[in-house]
Amino acid sequence: MADWDGAGYAHISELQRAMATASLESVTVEGTERVLDVGCGDGCVTRLIASRVPDGSVLGVDPSPRMIEAARAADDQLTNVSFQVGDVTTMGFGPDFDLVVSFNALHWVADQETAYRNIAAALQPGGRALVQFVCHGSRPSVERVAMAVTRDSRWAPAFADFAQPYLHIEPDDLPVIAGSAGLQVTRQSVVDREWDFGSRDQFAQWCTVGFSDWTSRLPAADVPAFVDAVVDRYQTVAGRPGVFRFLQLRAELRPSPQ
Ligand SMILES: C[S@@+](CC[C@H](N)C(=O)[O-])C[C@H]1O[C@@H](n2cnc3c(N)ncnc32)[C@H](O)[C@@H]1O
Repeated sequence: MADWDGAGYAHISELQRAMATASLESVTVEGTERVLDVGCGDGCVTRLIASRVPDGSVLGVDPSPRMIEAARAADDQLTNVSFQVGDVTTMGFGPDFDLVVSFNALHWVADQETAYRNIAAALQPGGRALVQFVCHGSRPSVERVAMAVTRDSRWAPAFADFAQPYLHIEPDDLPVIAGSAGLQVTRQSVVDREWDFGSRDQFAQWCTVGFSDWTSRLPAADVPAFVDAVVDRYQTVAGRPGVFRFLQLRAELRPSPQ
């Protein structure tokens, strides 16, 4: 797993913030909850949640040290938010949380069952989870296009032993994966989203930060050419420059009845 550019993420993550913010609007809270944000990134969404639980607390975990560094550096008055470096597949929380959330992080996790088992273990018996991530569909994803580019003769040597760093699960597989981890899906939706970055260049900047699993294998001087190759090829999928299309799965879960 690559270390994401936390400082850079803050400048290009309007899309991710918009997705998480909209998703949280329909989540009712009393204000006293203890919340765990898995794959919290730069902590922007974590802080939004903290502002909604003034008498509770939020812990953000993310395996990327530079993301956690950026999250801790944010300058605000919130005293009920904290951050830790941590991976969903190895985190070892007990049943300390009323709510576990995860926004656009779980499609970067190969071992889905362990991820959901650890989320389940972190929930107190009456707790709930909200997960949102990119799922599989018939249209090629931008990550799939990036994998195709790694096979081009220019890039193949750098990616000879490269394992696909993402996993877009089939929507129908979530209840099965979650079920085997002791969680029941109580609500699930998939929305086909389109996001216009406003320009090809803005989309390329977003890809540069989000593709750190790919770009961390390249000399810095080669990164713009790799990203350009992906952005050019992806245009045949999205139809217009600067436009990104993706399937966003949102699910609410609860511990399965014993
Ligand atoms: C697109 S960012 C989302 C950040 C934040 N949740 C948001 O919505 O802005 C994806 C995040 O997933 C994290 N991630 C990748 N693999 C992970 C894992 N195994 N466990 C937890 N988080 C992971 C990355 O480090 C990155 O910060």
